[in-house]
Amino acid sequence: MYDYCKNVHVVDHPMIQHKLSIIRDKNTGTKDFKDLVEEISMFMAYEVTRDLPLEEIEIETPICKTKAKMLSGKKLGVIPILRAGLGMVNGILKLVPAAKVGHIGIYRDPETLKPVEYYCKLPTDINERELIVVDPMLATGGSAVAAIYFLLQRGADIRNIKLVNLIAAPEGIKAVTEKYPEIEIFVAAVDERLNEHGYIVPGLGDAGDRLFGTK
Ligand code: URA
Repeated sequence: MYDYCKNVHVVDHPMIQHKLSIIRDKNTGTKDFKDLVEEISMFMAYEVTRDLPLEEIEIETPICKTKAKMLSGKKLGVIPILRAGLGMVNGILKLVPAAKVGHIGIYRDPETLKPVEYYCKLPTDINERELIVVDPMLATGGSAVAAIYFLLQRGADIRNIKLVNLIAAPEGIKAVTEKYPEIEIFVAAVDERLNEHGYIVPGLGDAGDRLFGTK
């Protein structure tokens, strides 16, 4: 738990921390980086889905009839913020294969510096779904705040939105929790700070470039 807000969860499982250290390393190549982002996302999804409701059903084992617990069918949506968020989707879908995937693309207007949505395609019933917004890096928080705002505008309920990042800067956590104090944020690490170029320190560099080999 991080002390900015009781809703910020630092998932510091040894498997996650080990894999995170490998992707931080500048010598880790694109394929390993992509695979590890997917694996870490799957581990994080395990924590993110911890409070999903269960229902009791009756089943028959080879031995006898018994009551057993199953997910009660709450619908989920995974919403990657383009482009780096795409790298987290498959890992989460491994755990929750029935989730629908929506996409949000945001850029910052160079003149107004305000976030502008350039692409948004969401499941039609987002107001009925628990939404997991994913982006590997929570830097200034600008994109996350904008993505959450766009989801709320389209009928999502803030109590049903969770933000999942691999690495966060304190500045990003502050920006999101100041704007949306009720949102739950899951991160694998909270790093020191942002540098003058908006990169997280120590971070892992540009997550999108490292995922897609564009650098
Ligand atoms: N986005 C990234 O990909 N890396 C950072 O360090 C900050 C924002």
